[in-house]
Amino acid sequence: MMELRVFADAATLAEQAAALIASRIEDGATTLGLAGGNTPKATYEQLRHQDIPWDRVVAWLPDERWVPPGHPDRNATMASAALFDHVPATLLEVPWVDGAKHAALLYEETLRESLPSEHGQLRPDLVLLGLGDDGHTASLFPDTAAVDVRERLFVANWVVAKNAWRLTATLPLLWAARTIVFLVSGVGKALALSQVLQGGTLAPAARTMDGAAEVVWMVDRDAARLL
Ligand code: 6PG
Repeated sequence: MMELRVFADAATLAEQAAALIASRIEDGATTLGLAGGNTPKATYEQLRHQDIPWDRVVAWLPDERWVPPGHPDRNATMASAALFDHVPATLLEVPWVDGAKHAALLYEETLRESLPSEHGQLRPDLVLLGLGDDGHTASLFPDTAAVDVRERLFVANWVVAKNAWRLTATLPLLWAARTIVFLVSGVGKALALSQVLQGGTLAPAARTMDGAAEVVWMVDRDAARLL
């Protein structure tokens, strides 16, 4: 099932996304996949004001940049500053070891031990994702190897466009989610959003809708201007 919610501006989007996340945790979600990049920061800051039993929540990263812990480019660094340094939740960081591929293997094992499962398959309950202007999501960039991986849940992915290693959930892990919530803001995302939602693209963000039981697109009016 896919749902689109359009909000007047980025601030309202952040408030409403925080309210949705809080309500899903109140309804029993115990794990939260954290979108990276800049857009979700306002939502994470809003979550500080929500009445959430954070000691029951385990947060994880559907993708991470291959830089050391504490590096300003790390998604965990952004999420910690915005929220997780301020609440008693568990944040599962991607380990910094001797190579991105080894780190991805270790993190995949951590996810297998930490995320809910059903009939022996991981079932992440709530995953937040962003949308890149090229249609990427997590670190599943168009025409990169990780997009076609089916036998792994979390891998290292060489991204030519970034000239860098990224670590990312694969489509099978995103497809296993009960709910995916996309957070999309700004006119720069309008074309990508219209292509993803109105068909006609095989961009990775569009592919996520091939599996997850529920996909909620929470967007602001600027991002929705071409819909
Ligand atoms: C990352 C993200 C990535 C992000 C999009 C949108 O590590 O950068 O996980 O998928 O969600 O690139 O980023 P912005 O919100 O900064 O536009």
